[in-house]
Amino acid sequence: MSKKHSSASTVIGIDIGGTGIKGGIVDLDSGEVLGDRYRIPTPTPSTPQAVAKVVKEIVDELMTRPHAPKEDAPVGITFPAIIAHGISLSAANVDQSWINADVDDIFTKELGRDVQVMNDADAAGLAEARYGAGKDVKGTVLVITLGTGIGSAFIFNGKLIPNVELGHLELDGFDAETKASASARERDDISWDEYAVRLQRYFSHVEFLFSPELFIIGGGISKRSEDYLPQLKLRTKITTAELKNNAGIVGGALQAAVHFKLTK
Ligand code: BGC
Repeated sequence: MSKKHSSASTVIGIDIGGTGIKGGIVDLDSGEVLGDRYRIPTPTPSTPQAVAKVVKEIVDELMTRPHAPKEDAPVGITFPAIIAHGISLSAANVDQSWINADVDDIFTKELGRDVQVMNDADAAGLAEARYGAGKDVKGTVLVITLGTGIGSAFIFNGKLIPNVELGHLELDGFDAETKASASARERDDISWDEYAVRLQRYFSHVEFLFSPELFIIGGGISKRSEDYLPQLKLRTKITTAELKNNAGIVGGALQAAVHFKLTK
């Protein structure tokens, strides 16, 4: 159920990942996370109930801080799966019990406040389009997050086209994220140069399919771009996420604020 909210300048964003759940207070004007992020490892097994409890713990901690939003402000939550109408339709790197779970309802009940749930890469894309490397870029911007899996956000003229799952493109007989994600590099214990070859194959293919104006690489690995970015030969400009690891938190908060009409 959703109530009318008064306007606000900060909103809490929570980014749920395969290894950690991070939260922060987001300044909607600047897109900055105010103060430290608060992180708790993702529980194992990462069932909806266990994850919801951790999210509540993070929200409770953030609400004690000086920049905390109003008591009834909505919370933006990002999740590593396809999210349509508040329902999770996939579970590539999380517990299978999330498939068809009503994530909106689970988090609304646990937190006792309105929530807006979205795909994690979509959130990162939204944040980059509004505040970061994709700001004011016309045409197609593809944000590709390299982490446990590969996430993707499709932005056109600043607007997000949600739930585009380019991490699961089938390439050379493999689901792309099983070869080109950051975790695949670690699992296969390959050098950065070998990893760059995999990224080249992946990005060339995505470039051929969509001819974007810009690629933005997100995820933890965006901090190490000097190890693989110079090796990539593409006609499309490619850069790393300006909001780094905060993009998910910021995009989640922004989407909640837009959905509940706290900002445009
Ligand atoms: C999931 C996506 C998610 C990405 C990054 C993929 O395996 O299918 O929904 O955005 O991982 O977490």
